[in-house]
This record gives sequence, C-alpha cells and structure tokens, in this order.
Amino acid sequence: MRHLLTNAGPIAHMSSKGPISGHILDESSFVHEPGMAILVEDHVIVKIDETESMESEFTDILVTNLEGKAVIPGLVDAHTHLLWAGDRSREISWKQKGMSYKQIAEKGGGIAATVLPTRSASDSDLSHLGIERMREALRNGTTHLEAKSGYGLDTETELRMLSIAEGLSAIERLPSLDLTWLGAHAAAPGSSLDDYFEDIMSNQLPAILEQGIARSADVFCEPGWFSIEQSEDLLKASRDGGLDLRIHIDEFADGGGGDLAAELSVQTADHAHHTNLESRHSMDKAGVNTGFLPGTPYSMGEDYPPFKQCQENNFVWSIASDFNPNCRTLSLPFISSILVQRNEISPITTLAACTVNSANTTPHPSGLKHGMIEVGAVANLNIVDGPWWEAWCLQPGHSPFAATMLEGELIYH
Ligand code: NIG
Ligand code: FE
Repeated sequence: MRHLLTNAGPIAHMSSKGPISGHILDESSFVHEPGMAILVEDHVIVKIDETESMESEFTDILVTNLEGKAVIPGLVDAHTHLLWAGDRSREISWKQKGMSYKQIAEKGGGIAATVLPTRSASDSDLSHLGIERMREALRNGTTHLEAKSGYGLDTETELRMLSIAEGLSAIERLPSLDLTWLGAHAAAPGSSLDDYFEDIMSNQLPAILEQGIARSADVFCEPGWFSIEQSEDLLKASRDGGLDLRIHIDEFADGGGGDLAAELSVQTADHAHHTNLESRHSMDKAGVNTGFLPGTPYSMGEDYPPFKQCQENNFVWSIASDFNPNCRTLSLPFISSILVQRNEISPITTLAACTVNSANTTPHPSGLKHGMIEVGAVANLNIVDGPWWEAWCLQPGHSPFAATMLEGELIYH
C-alpha cells in the first residue's frame, strides 16, 4: 500500500551515514524546509520531495495532509528494563531521608525487592504489563525499544522473561523490540553475589545461549555490584556465544568500567555518569557509544552527567529512558526536556541522541535503517502537534505528538 503525507511543516529528518558526534552546529543540514511530502510504500519511506510535484506524480493513492505540522523520526529508546512486577514507590521516603541506592539495596529494597513480585507474576500478567508499557512508549513517540531481562535472577525466570518479551515483539501496532539478557543485574535474593555469578556462568549463560532469544548481553558493572573481572568474564563468554555486548558502568562512582567497555568495544556503555575523561577518550577511540540515562539522577534527586564535556570532545553519545522501578518514565520527550530545559543542550543535538545515535546501538528487526527520515529507512516517524519541530522536547508532562507512523501505519494519539 502507498501513502503520501503532504504539506509537512519542517521535517527534522536526522539523516546521516552514521551516528553524529559532539553537538550539531549546522542545524539546517538536518531539517527540511516546510512544504515537503513523504511517500511511504508498505513499511518503507520511498520518496521525499516537494508536495506539489509529489501530488501530481502520485494520484489515486491514500493522502494525509499534515497541514504544516512538524515531523521528526520515530524515537528509539535504547535502554529499558521493560518487564517487572511490583511497586517500590515507598522507597521515596528512604531516599528523602538521605539513604543512597546502595543503602536502600542493603535494607532489602532496590532490585531484589522487584525480583520476588516478578517471579510470582504469571506470564499473562507480565505480558499485560509489557503491552501497557509499550503503548505508553508509543504514545510518547517511541517506535523501537531495547528491552532487558534482569528481574528474574534465576535461570528459569530469566528465560521466561525473554520468552514473554519475544511474544510481545510479535504483536502488531506496538514498537519493535531488541532483547538483551541482564542476568547479572544484582545478587539473587538469598545468594551471595559471587555464588550467583558462579551460577550465571555455569548454568544461566549456557541456557540463555541455547534459548537463542536475546541478541545482546549486559551486566551491572559497578563498585558494590559486579566487578570489572566478573563483567569481563561474563561479556567475553557472551561474545563467544554469539551475543552483542552492552554494559552499565559508573552510575554512582568511577569503577573503571569505561576502560573495560573500550577494551571489549561494546556497542554502548550506559549511565557512564562518573567515568573519567581519559576512559571516555578510550571509549571513543574504540567506537563505544556513551548512553546517558538522565531519568535516573532525576528520580534520585542527583546532578546530571557531563553532556557538555562529551559535546566539547566530539564523543558519540545517546540518551535513553532507563525505564525501571526506580525511574518510571517511558517518555523520551520528557528525558529530552531534561537536556534542553535543564542542561542547555540544543534541541537538534538532543534529537540526534534519541534517534540516529540510539538507533545505531539497537538494530531494527527489519534490518532497515531507523531513527531517521530518509529514502530506504523504516517508515517510523512522529507528527508533532504544531508547526515547530522543537516542540517535541518542550512539553514534559504529556505527549507532544498528534500521531505516530509505525512501520507505515499512521496511529493517531
Ligand atoms: O539501570 N542500576 C542498575 N539497574 C537499573 C536500576 C534497577 C532498579 O533499581 O530496579 C538502572 O538504573
Ligand atoms: Fe539500566
């Protein structure tokens, strides 16, 4: 089926051969002037040209007049903990009494407090939660999500979580998924970290590889959680088993995870809040993306990672929601508002961080390009409810979009 979108306002297309480093100085090379039309055939963008010539070339096809509304790519959320049950809202009073994330974990809160309700939730309860969350992400313009396991923390539940997530990825009219195994997220309740790690290496990893659902492996490499040595062993064995690699590093302290990320050339090193500049240079040389997750310090009442340092050094970086029980947002427009309205990062650079750059770490299942509006890319795009594309990151409390085109289908919000 062919569908022509006419009379677009400005299109912030973000078309680029690869990820964009640093910050964007020449915004105009990433934005088409108003008046363009986009032709979509099935789930692919096939032509972008002036409305007038497209209307005379393509007659008798479905036409939607955008009436000057701005357009941006479908947003790509490259770091989420999508599936879990339970509710840790009461931890806010502990946080406000000054307890750290580590102290809350030691008191029985944190990740372990999500594991027990997740293990006892049924498959259908977890699927239902997943569907609701994916709808919420889509309402906020996300057309593709990376989704991690990590709240099972035993072989049976980690396999079950990935299999439920695989089921979700087959449902139509929901964002596509890229699945990551994060069995090494914390010590399993009742085990020491070292005993649980042993079990991961001898039993859980082989079972995950045999199941064959996860595309990547991830590990929470942080002082007080999995060590550099454990993270290295786990990631190397995962790579040997055919998985791509991601890593959580330096969320609360610089633990040396940046050097490990560089040594292993992982796809993306996330949080990377306290990483030292030298390690950031090594990551950059090794082609490692820095995946900032500013919703987490927002939720914890902490300061933000050094976006500007990465801009000035021309590093490649992205942003993601980190949706999890401690950071309960699936809105990339909200995360983007933190950069633009609280950290003086320009809207166009912020848009690159959650489209072309994040897409570079999480492929679309079709194998086509995504995170940009260009000929040959997946037809994933957002119609902003207004004439200015910048409005996408300036309305943190609600969705800024009138509609989202998801793999060629226009869904009105
Ligand atoms: O990326 N910090 C490690 N993992 C998650 C949080 C998990 C949780 O608190 O439940 C994160 O922020
Ligand atoms: Fe995370």
